[in-house]
Amino acid sequence: MLGKKKLAVAAVLSAIALGTSQVQVANAAVTGKIEVFSWWTSGSESAALNTILNSLQKSNPGLKIVNAAVAGGAGTNAKQVLATRLAAGDTPETWQTHPGGDLKGYVDQKSVKDITALYKSQAWGKVTPKALVDSMSYNGKTYSVLTGVHRANVLWTNKAALAKAGVTLGASSTWADIAAAAPKIKAAGIAPVCLGDKDIWTAAMILENLLVGELGATEYNNLAAGKASWSDPKVAAVVDHFNTFVSWANTDHKSLDWTGAVAALANGTCAMNFMGDWAYGELLVKQKKVDGVDFGYTIVGSNPNTFITVGDSFVIGAKSKNPAAAEAFLKAIMDPKVQIAFAKAKGSSPFRTDVSTATLGKYQQGAAKTLATGTLVASLVHGQQLVPAATGQAFSDGVTLLEGNQDAAAFGKAMDAAVKG
Ligand code: GAL
Repeated sequence: MLGKKKLAVAAVLSAIALGTSQVQVANAAVTGKIEVFSWWTSGSESAALNTILNSLQKSNPGLKIVNAAVAGGAGTNAKQVLATRLAAGDTPETWQTHPGGDLKGYVDQKSVKDITALYKSQAWGKVTPKALVDSMSYNGKTYSVLTGVHRANVLWTNKAALAKAGVTLGASSTWADIAAAAPKIKAAGIAPVCLGDKDIWTAAMILENLLVGELGATEYNNLAAGKASWSDPKVAAVVDHFNTFVSWANTDHKSLDWTGAVAALANGTCAMNFMGDWAYGELLVKQKKVDGVDFGYTIVGSNPNTFITVGDSFVIGAKSKNPAAAEAFLKAIMDPKVQIAFAKAKGSSPFRTDVSTATLGKYQQGAAKTLATGTLVASLVHGQQLVPAATGQAFSDGVTLLEGNQDAAAFGKAMDAAVKG
């Protein structure tokens, strides 16, 4: 048995070993069971999730961790499954949700715990951007912790495919640049666009990205909030661009999901894929491709510093049977080492601002900079705009109809009706 003095010396020594000036008091390990609910099942997504789960297990060897991920990109299935479970009082300890409208839905339902005190005790407010914490706070209370933030509006390109077609795209591209590139790519025998819209959200992202890129962040926010008309000819012009863009896609697009489209891009059977930068994780981790060698990227629109945010955050269920374990999970997310290891696999920018991005890929270093300094706009498609869920649903339904009828006027009319409520 060590005496009190010896214990204190050991604590100081371990603090020195940790490179800290203060004596660190280790968190007491938690036990019991934790169910972690998400939709992270793709190669890169599960690798990223495992960085958190492994760290949690390491500091809590007696904890039984259940990875309750439900397959389906963007939570297409998971959100439904969770809603049913919550209604039945079958609450996972922690689950994934986007800040903004999605999170507010759970807050309004009173199904998530207020974690303001945890932010305070861990001093997380000092190492995270206020705007992001605000996007997870309502009436002065904070409800979730971000693993990182994704950028939705990236057009990924296959380098060899573009070279074969004699096309170069810079750091940003106008619609005219894309419209000029597509016929050349087609003439080279390659589908200009990679799409996997088995689930409609991937097509909805194309329209969202074009609207934000061509009309700007302010106009898009006004449209989402019902402060601008979706029947404006400017909107119709962008919807027509969407129709054209989809017409350039691989013919099997309706049978692929987002990972299938990324695989097709990696293989070069198609050339350009509009997808959030979770595709970066997938290209690196699953497809084993090299940034700047095998693939490139461009931002479509007038302001290359526009960043459509899709944050991934985790909450503590109000009826969680093991809230201590859920807290330990959130602490694992916020571990600086985990923030970087997670970002490496996932493609997102870290939430913490005090971690070095030097070991992240070139694309990510730029994205993290834009997240800190660029024009941020919350994604409606991913439920992050602070608007009624019905607006997002109408957008997604509208895109489904557009794929059949290409009717920009009907889309505008339906959206105007939806935002008026
Ligand atoms: C988004 C999520 C990303 C990624 C993507 C595809 O909703 O923010 O982390 O997982 O879905 O599943």
